Amino acid sequence: MITIISGKGAPGATTTLAALAATWPAPVLLADCDPDGGDVAPGWLGQWVVAGRIRTDLGVLSHATATRHASAGDPATLGEHVQAVPPVRHVGLLAGFTAPGQHAAVSAAGWARLTVALAAFKTATGYPADTLVDAGRFGAVTPWPLLLAADLVLVAVRPTQRHVLAARAVLAALAERVAPHRMKLAVCATTPAGTHDVRAALCREVAFAVPEDARTADVLSGGRDGGALPRRSPLLHSTYRAARQLHSTYHRQPADPQVTNRGPHLLAGSTR
Ligand SMILES: Nc1ncnc2c1ncn2[C@@H]1O[C@H](COP(=O)(O)OP(=O)(O)OP(=O)(O)O)[C@@H](O)[C@H]1O
Ligand SMILES: [Mg+2]
Repeated sequence: MITIISGKGAPGATTTLAALAATWPAPVLLADCDPDGGDVAPGWLGQWVVAGRIRTDLGVLSHATATRHASAGDPATLGEHVQAVPPVRHVGLLAGFTAPGQHAAVSAAGWARLTVALAAFKTATGYPADTLVDAGRFGAVTPWPLLLAADLVLVAVRPTQRHVLAARAVLAALAERVAPHRMKLAVCATTPAGTHDVRAALCREVAFAVPEDARTADVLSGGRDGGALPRRSPLLHSTYRAARQLHSTYHRQPADPQVTNRGPHLLAGSTR
């Protein structure tokens, strides 16, 4: 489980995570857990929402409601809330909140149940799926269980003073509860010099950096070109490499032969 979080200023956390999911070398669950509202379905996947292929009433909130009487998290409860992502079939989406304040319906226990379910989620072939979680901007309603259980917490940051200062505050808050080796930077819309400056300013390891690439970012954040991924994309090229590196670092088991090269493979329960 890799969870991304950001400070103020919209550095590109959701866009970067969507790119990472799209280029992930194995089945992956993209969990849109931003308490301020999910941006993946209405953004990148808006066309499929309009066409009725992706339902916005299924996701984090419906899972919390359906499991409200459960005492513990159970991956078996998650499948019916996960939907296939039409442009990238190896990705399953747990859609986010659609209206302000909906996060209040998910209690601390609800986030804890979801975290357990996400961490143990399996593909249709019974192979453990990786999970990429968008935890939104750090704040009072941050879903902490999704940070505490993550193998890696990525703090999204752009190479500007404003974003670096915002990231510094997030890192300081996280440092109280997240081990240093589990906290790295995802530098968004950057250059090699910008990444160098961010690393130096924040004294943190950079997990990966993605270049400024407005066209691909517009696809992944706003559904440009109907959400179709461009063939040539500096952003996707960089996350392709990052995804492989992260997958090999954190995936301790051999690849599932049935999902080699990501295959035409849907996650368990994502049959819609
Ligand atoms: N690598 C990039 N190159 C150029 N533009 C980018 C890049 N990444 C993101 N953007 C743009 O930055 C804006 C913010 O992106 P995004 O919504 O992903 O940020 P965020 O950190 O998730 O914001 P929020 O805090 O609102 O959730 C969008 O317009 C997006 O297209
Ligand atoms: Mg976001």
